[in-house]
Amino acid sequence: MTSFASGIEALLSLICFMFPLSSCQQRGIQELVKVGDPVLAGKFLDQRTSHIKELPPSNGYLIIEANGGLNQQRISICNAVAVAGLLNATLVIPKFHLNSVWRDSSKFGDIFDEEHFIDILRNDVKVVKVLPEAILQQFDNNISNIVNLRVRAWSSSTYYLEKVLPKLLKLGAVRIAPFSNRLAHEVPLYVQSLRCMANYEALRFSQPIRSLGESMVERMVKNSSRTGGKYVSVHLRFEEDMVAFSCCIYDGGEEEKWEMDNARERGWRGKFNKTGRIIRPGAIRMDGKCPLTPLEVGMMLRGMGFDNTTSVYVAAGKIYKAERYMLPLRQIFPLLETKETLASPEELAPFKGHSSRLAALDYTVCLHSEVFVTTQGGNFPHFLMGHRRFLYNGHAKTIKPDKRKLALLLDNPNIRWENFKRQMQAMLRHSDSKGIEMRKTNGSPFTFPMPDCMCHHMETGVAGTNITMEI
Ligand SMILES: *[C@@H]1O[C@H](CO)[C@@H](O)[C@H](O)[C@H]1NC(C)=O
Ligand SMILES: *[C@@H]1O[C@H](CO)[C@@H](O)[C@H](O)[C@H]1NC(C)=O
Ligand SMILES: *[C@@H]1O[C@H](CO)[C@@H](O)[C@H](O)[C@H]1NC(C)=O
Ligand SMILES: *[C@@H]1O[C@H](CO)[C@@H](O)[C@H](O)[C@H]1NC(C)=O
Ligand SMILES: *[C@@H]1O[C@H](CO)[C@@H](O)[C@H](O)[C@H]1NC(C)=O
Ligand SMILES: *[C@@H]1O[C@H](CO)[C@@H](O)[C@H](O)[C@H]1NC(C)=O
Repeated sequence: MTSFASGIEALLSLICFMFPLSSCQQRGIQELVKVGDPVLAGKFLDQRTSHIKELPPSNGYLIIEANGGLNQQRISICNAVAVAGLLNATLVIPKFHLNSVWRDSSKFGDIFDEEHFIDILRNDVKVVKVLPEAILQQFDNNISNIVNLRVRAWSSSTYYLEKVLPKLLKLGAVRIAPFSNRLAHEVPLYVQSLRCMANYEALRFSQPIRSLGESMVERMVKNSSRTGGKYVSVHLRFEEDMVAFSCCIYDGGEEEKWEMDNARERGWRGKFNKTGRIIRPGAIRMDGKCPLTPLEVGMMLRGMGFDNTTSVYVAAGKIYKAERYMLPLRQIFPLLETKETLASPEELAPFKGHSSRLAALDYTVCLHSEVFVTTQGGNFPHFLMGHRRFLYNGHAKTIKPDKRKLALLLDNPNIRWENFKRQMQAMLRHSDSKGIEMRKTNGSPFTFPMPDCMCHHMETGVAGTNITMEI
């Protein structure tokens, strides 16, 4: 893996060559974010925003609604900042749609620090908390009277300039709801950099979330004294909804079938019972689409070389049949923590029943872990991978298992531990080599912040690029 580290250095010098520092500075990115020192991430902001710039006159108000869970809302917000900047529009702090699955009534200010958001963007995009009275009066004091534009998913910046801008200029305010994926990944660099600024700098969690999140990180670090304060975080998607949605079979018993049928009916009424829809759980598993069980995650990590001195943080909602399924993982990793073991019931009380606030706590603990393990796709791991790449000098240290291969190995009754271990270590090396991937055309800037959101001057070497925590 030493050769891999020098590979990263070569890659980073290449990036520096492609984006000389002057162009980095133009884009407002001046300070190298040092490995393992996320606090520095905010530092260059102070330099950048120390002089206040005059913004061009506003072309009107942009009102968007953010749908989905925490991280889908995050996509909406970042895209809204980018579009507002593109159109010289004034952005109204987004409203959150109540989602049928996540059922969280939290508002923007409950999740994110509103003042910070407005302040960080003040040189680039004007943001207001609410639509001014005078404007609202023009629409009979009823926001529903403001035209809601239908914008197709992944629309280009040209589309916004040609179709949305004239309406904005004519009407003084437009709405776009819902808004989550309404802007293409591929946009001009200055629009992209607004999206980066929104995601990595302007959006920080609200004070109550930051405060408890930071305590939880401190407790994890303290708990991991035997491994130099380093811990592994695992995003485990073994909640009842997820298991039901996957249509995979686990213990195969009557009770499981009954519970899963019920959960599917509750969550997706009839979706899985449409005529002509044939569900083959075996094929889904071989295709690597089944949520990993806690035991499977434990075996995989043990095979990769993490032993029982490793502290593990499990980020998850309510695990399906937790008592039964979590037991083997706790046996493999006795130093296992979750929100519930790391924080007291009193500390968690203000977060209970708010899935987005709880997810924000998980996000915080995962963000600062040495290694992050993703077990199923989704916005949560995609944002985390990108955010960790941004903070830790481009290298995400994410373990993203090849689940097709894993299914083959785990279902082979004759496999020997030595062989399994060898395969897991190869998988680890593969994950490691993917740590520093660059964004490809049409790739998400939220998952691949490099090169768009990052420039580096190589004053420090890339230290600690090994996933293996020297245990
Ligand atoms: C926004 O303002 C900038 C700076 O004044 C100007 O160059 C640009 O053309 C404006 N864009 C629109 C869409 O009004
Ligand atoms: C707001 O306008 C919508 C349609 O434009 C209408 O259906 C609704 O009743 C109005 N609400 C109020 C409070 O007037
Ligand atoms: C880890 O932290 C939790 C919460 O602070 C504590 O209850 C537990 O005893 C700690 N475990 C170790 C091994 O330090
Ligand atoms: C849906 O289909 C499954 C399997 O084909 C069956 O067990 C279940 O009872 C059905 N559910 C409903 C609500 O019809
Ligand atoms: C960890 O594993 C070692 C053997 O590898 C064993 O001796 C030790 O008791 C285990 N510790 C715990 C806490 O299970
Ligand atoms: C990676 O780990 C190996 C074995 O612990 C070590 O020899 C090597 O120097 C490490 N490389 C880096 C870049 O830390």
